[in-house]
Amino acid sequence: MAKLTIKDVDVREKRVFMRVDFNVPMEEKDGKMVVTDVTRIKETLPTLKILVDKGAKIILAAHLGRPKGKREATMSLAPVAEKLKEMTGYKVSFVDDCIGPKVEQAAAALKAGEILVLENVRYYNEEEANDPAFAEKLAKVADMYVNDAFGTAHRAHASTEGVAHIVTKRGGKAVAGLLMERELKFLGDELEKPARPFVVILGGAKVSDKINVIDRLLEKADAILIGGAMAYTFKLALGFKTGKSLVEPDKTNVAKAALDKAKARKVQFLLPSDNIVAEQKDTGKVNKKGKPVFDIVNPRLNSSDNIEGEAAGFDIGPETAKSYAEVIRKAKTIVWNGPMGMFEDPRFAEGTNAVAKAVVEATQKNGAKSIIGGGDSVKALNKAKLGNKVTFMSTGGGASLEFLEGRVLPGVAALQDK
Ligand code: 3PG
Repeated sequence: MAKLTIKDVDVREKRVFMRVDFNVPMEEKDGKMVVTDVTRIKETLPTLKILVDKGAKIILAAHLGRPKGKREATMSLAPVAEKLKEMTGYKVSFVDDCIGPKVEQAAAALKAGEILVLENVRYYNEEEANDPAFAEKLAKVADMYVNDAFGTAHRAHASTEGVAHIVTKRGGKAVAGLLMERELKFLGDELEKPARPFVVILGGAKVSDKINVIDRLLEKADAILIGGAMAYTFKLALGFKTGKSLVEPDKTNVAKAALDKAKARKVQFLLPSDNIVAEQKDTGKVNKKGKPVFDIVNPRLNSSDNIEGEAAGFDIGPETAKSYAEVIRKAKTIVWNGPMGMFEDPRFAEGTNAVAKAVVEATQKNGAKSIIGGGDSVKALNKAKLGNKVTFMSTGGGASLEFLEGRVLPGVAALQDK
C-alpha cells in the first residue's frame, strides 16, 4: 500500500520531526572530522526544499556510526550540519543533544523554513532499544513526523519507528519523504511486474548475506549472474576446488538449493568460468583492529573452473565479464547488488567495471531500468564515474537488501497509508 508523503500534508508553520540517514562516511583531516561522501545528504535535499519552501520548521534527527550509547566525538553530527548549511545556504543550526530542554528551546526558536539538526540519536542506548520513554522525549518537539531515512528503515529504533507511532497516536501525521518514496518505488513497485528480460546481478563476500534475496528474486528473474567471493561457495557446492578463496563451507547446502530452484524455474543462473586469482602473504603487521595484514601478490588469470593450492579468487575473469555483459546488454530490467571482485584494488576492479559499463549500456541503449541496490555497487559505479548513468541508485545498504528480500521494514510500516 502506498504511503502518505509530504506532498499530501500541510506543513506550514508545523514542527516537522524528520528522520534522515546522515550516516555518511567521515575522515579526520587536520584534527577535524570531515564528510567524505555527501550522497546521502544530497538525496534528502528535494524533501528539504519542499519543507523549506512551504514554511515548515524542520528538525532533523539522524545517527552516525555505532557509538553504542556513548558521546563519541568522532561521531558527532555537527560537521554534517555544517556541510548541509554549506550545500544549501539554508538557515541550519545544530544542537548538541537530541532530547531535553536545550533541544526544546532550540525547536521553539525555529522560524518557518529554518532547519535544526539534532546530535546523534545513538549517543543514547535507548534509541536502538526503541525505548518508549526516549521516543516520547524525541517526539516532544514533533507536530508531524517525516521519514526520509530509507537506509535506516530496517531498524525498529526510537527515531525510525517509536516517534512515528507516538505522533500518529496523538492524531498527527507520519509520512514519507521524497527519497523514501523513490526508494520504495524503484526497489518495490518497479519490480512487481518487471519488463523482461529481468537480469539480477549479485556479488559481495557472502552467500549468507544474499541468499534470501536470491531466493526471492529467483521467483521473478530471467537470469541471475553471480560474482564476488560468494561465487566460490557456489563453486564449492558444485564440487569444484576453490583454493584459499573466501568460502562458507556451511552454506554449500543453501547454495545447492538455490541452484536447484533456478533449474526448476528455468532461470539462467551464471557462475564465473574464469577468475583473477592471487596469493595472500602475511606481512607480520596488524591493523588498527589487531587483525593481521596481508599483501595480495601475484595476480593472474585462472581460466579453469578449479582454483588450486594457495591461490584465491579476487575478481571474475575476462571471459566471465564478457558473457555477463552479453546477458546484461539485452536486459530490460536490472537489479545489481554487490561488486564482482575486490574492486577497491585496481588489480581486481575490471570485472566490476565491465559489469558497470554493461549496465549503463543497457540503460542508455536498450532502455533498461537499472536499479542499483546500494552499498558497494554504488561505490563502484561512482568510482567508475558512471553513477549518474543508471536509473536509480539506492541510498540503503542493509535496508535495500532486506527490502529486496520482500521483508516489511519497520520504518516504512510505521508510516501512514494513503
Ligand atoms: C547504513 O549505513 O546502512 C544505515 O545508516 C544503517 O546503519 P546501521 O547498520 O549502523 O544501523
